[in-house]
Amino acid sequence: MIVKSIELFDFRNYESLDLKFDEGVNILYGDNAQGKTNILEAIYMSGTTKSHRGTKDKETIRFGKEEAHIRTIVEKQGKEYKIDMHIKKHKTKGIAINQMPIKKASDLFGVLNLIFFSPEDLNIIKDGPAERRRFLDLELCQLDKIYLYNLSKYNKVLNQRNKLLKDIFQNPELRNTLDIWDQQLITYGTKIIQRRKQFVEELNTIIFGIHKRLSGNKEELFLSYEPNCTDAYYPQKLCEARDKDERFGSTSVGPHRDDISFLIGNIDIRKYGSQGQQRTAALSLKLSEIELVKKIIGDEPVLLLDDVLSELDINRQNQLLNNLSTTQTVITCTGLDEFIKNRLKIDKVFRVTEGIVTEEQQLN
Ligand SMILES: Nc1ncnc2c1ncn2[C@@H]1O[C@H](COP(=O)(O)OP(=O)(O)OP(=O)(O)O)[C@@H](O)[C@H]1O
Ligand SMILES: [Mg+2]
Repeated sequence: MIVKSIELFDFRNYESLDLKFDEGVNILYGDNAQGKTNILEAIYMSGTTKSHRGTKDKETIRFGKEEAHIRTIVEKQGKEYKIDMHIKKHKTKGIAINQMPIKKASDLFGVLNLIFFSPEDLNIIKDGPAERRRFLDLELCQLDKIYLYNLSKYNKVLNQRNKLLKDIFQNPELRNTLDIWDQQLITYGTKIIQRRKQFVEELNTIIFGIHKRLSGNKEELFLSYEPNCTDAYYPQKLCEARDKDERFGSTSVGPHRDDISFLIGNIDIRKYGSQGQQRTAALSLKLSEIELVKKIIGDEPVLLLDDVLSELDINRQNQLLNNLSTTQTVITCTGLDEFIKNRLKIDKVFRVTEGIVTEEQQLN
């Protein structure tokens, strides 16, 4: 699949923009704070309905305006999909695919698969477990509609249970109602645990070879899913933790506390890896993610690289870009020097200046 074009109206610092992308490598370059990431954000929202920044919809509306529009044309297996997104200040946003309004965000599922890669992703191994869970969830929600459903149900039930735990402190008789929430939590939580386990296994079959190559044949990387509790012991553990949960007013057991560890040899590089080792493993993870998405959807996702190349040395840049010969890529960066120097293949170059984008002559 490819993003053919994007139109923006009153989105972030764009009053009006109409961009046509190449199906290969597209570069958006310009100084800081000119609007490069804003374009990637708009593409990301078209595919997932949400901003990669985790910001509220209304914050993407241009200052002083009431609404914003994103119109994206996606080509997938020879068919065109027009995604219209209408973001409003005081109401929920409207989305239409080929002029047909959709009711649920999940109706957009599978139209545009994206992989977003930013410098923060290179920290995923040294960051806290929340970042690693976010990675699992972002991926699985794009790949598996049932997971998306189970996760949203789980989060709702978890919130309700936490609220109830706090209320029990004032009204102990409410305790009787906990069972109902626990049952639901276990139903959805178990499915999340099982799917995450399978996903990590799938990643493992791919990451091993990629990391071996990236580390110059030196390292063997292995991911290990670390569920907070296994599905078999989940009901028991949840029950045992009840008193504690009531005291703290929050749920201490379940997949919202999961983690993944990264092992080289038998060493957990979250704790003991060098910074270079951690960053290389993070790049391996990202490359594996691309491979796995390709395998699962049977198509090419679109790759968004936000300022990430300047963070990698030439060897790693090449490893990344050489892997992408058939993937549509949109890259943001502040300068073009690196590309020219390293003769990296570029198909379209856009210069971004204060919310205005101009296409430049191809360089190679
Ligand atoms: N809702 C909004 N309305 C108008 N302008 C906005 C809005 N939100 C952000 N901006 C502006 O967008 C600009 C930032 O855009 P963006 O993050 O895309 O920059 P960038 O080109 O990626 O910069 P960098 O190289 O530093 O990452 C800032 O000037 C900011 O003030
Ligand atoms: Mg940026």
